Amino acid sequence: MPESTQVVIVGGGPAGLLLSQRLHLEDIDSVVLERQSRAHVLGRIRAGLLEWGSVEVLRDSGVGARMDREGLEHDGSDIVWGGAHRLTMDTRRFAGRPMMAYGQTRLTEDLYRARDANGGVVLDRVEDVVLHDLASATPSVTYERDGRRYRIACDFVAGCDGFHGVSRQAIPSAQRREFEKTYPFGWLGILSETPPLPELVYANSPRGFALSSQRGPSMARYYVQCPLDTDLGDWPDERFWEELKARYPAALADAIVTGPSIEKSIAPLRSFVSEPMSWGRLFLAGDAAHIVPPTGAKGLNLAISDVFYLARALAAHYRRGDETCLASYSETALRRVWGAARFSWWLTGLLHRFPDQGAFDLRAQEQELQHMATSEAYMTAVCEQYAGLPFED
Ligand code: APR
Ligand code: PHB
Repeated sequence: MPESTQVVIVGGGPAGLLLSQRLHLEDIDSVVLERQSRAHVLGRIRAGLLEWGSVEVLRDSGVGARMDREGLEHDGSDIVWGGAHRLTMDTRRFAGRPMMAYGQTRLTEDLYRARDANGGVVLDRVEDVVLHDLASATPSVTYERDGRRYRIACDFVAGCDGFHGVSRQAIPSAQRREFEKTYPFGWLGILSETPPLPELVYANSPRGFALSSQRGPSMARYYVQCPLDTDLGDWPDERFWEELKARYPAALADAIVTGPSIEKSIAPLRSFVSEPMSWGRLFLAGDAAHIVPPTGAKGLNLAISDVFYLARALAAHYRRGDETCLASYSETALRRVWGAARFSWWLTGLLHRFPDQGAFDLRAQEQELQHMATSEAYMTAVCEQYAGLPFED
């Protein structure tokens, strides 16, 4: 087991793996500590829509080859409402850049492959991670593996351990402020080995939100809004398909190809931001610091932009002794995080049915969609956010 490294990265999800890969390209040593087994991490089904800025960061990190072969580049996504109306958030036209449908599961595989090829140290099945002396210049991390306890000394700790991780809690609560919003519904999602619709289509319907998405030419991902206490056992495939189709206009419903589901799960929706994103020698990235509801497809993209800023700041420290990027990391990352948090909250409100809403609220949502469909100014503002805000210099 390694006794020291430059950066200990807690968490081997997309944020932690991409950070270790980018640090490697800067000749900075890291060790990734992941609680789950590698098989578990690779088996998780998550979102899959990349902003073009994310696509470029992944290419620049040497992990873009399979994404470029198998990802589906497209011009944005559609929204349908009122049983007949349809608009396209055409990001190529209104924001000057397309988007890429590529599953997070595959991206995680690509990242593991790249780390393995470069001799990267990614320790899985690591338990009871504890961060020490973060306010000093000599922090360390202890953990247990196969019944033995180890300590690893480092210069910095990167907390990439997701919403339920330990890193965020290592910042004293008096120094931390949390902002949270919960939503009175979740998404019931299925993965199906069937050809997806040619576009990503979000639906605002009186029966609730729905989304048709893509994972490849013959792999589709669908979601319907559901109550939080929904029991998966009450949702055999036939019922899911029936409910999904009932939320789309007839022509689209007819075009949906049904088949047996290969995965089915329910995810609650949450907005959460923890400030600041750094404390002493600890730097948070990805879900460890913020959660957005999936409606705007921003979770994975924010993890990638945090890592872009953090790797750049660490490189400036090691190459030039320049501390300014590390000092401003939290502020810089949070500007982008709040942009995406605000957008995801807004789009969630526009497309879902809330329990306390009446007929007035539905008409107001439909009016806003109509306005978006007919106003270039409004659509441009929306597409600027959906396509992803640019990275700051
Ligand atoms: N010790 C070590 N590892 C931990 C610990 C811990 N105490 N707690 C959590 N982890 C691991 C988890 O097992 C997980 O593999 O940290 C990893 C965090 O990964 P993600 O939850 O995937 O978060 P992140 O890498 O920030 O990815 C961003 O984008 O699409 C969104 O939410 C989605 O996962 C996605 C995210
Ligand atoms: C997905 O493909 O899982 C997906 C796409 C767009 C979203 C959310 C999820 O907004």
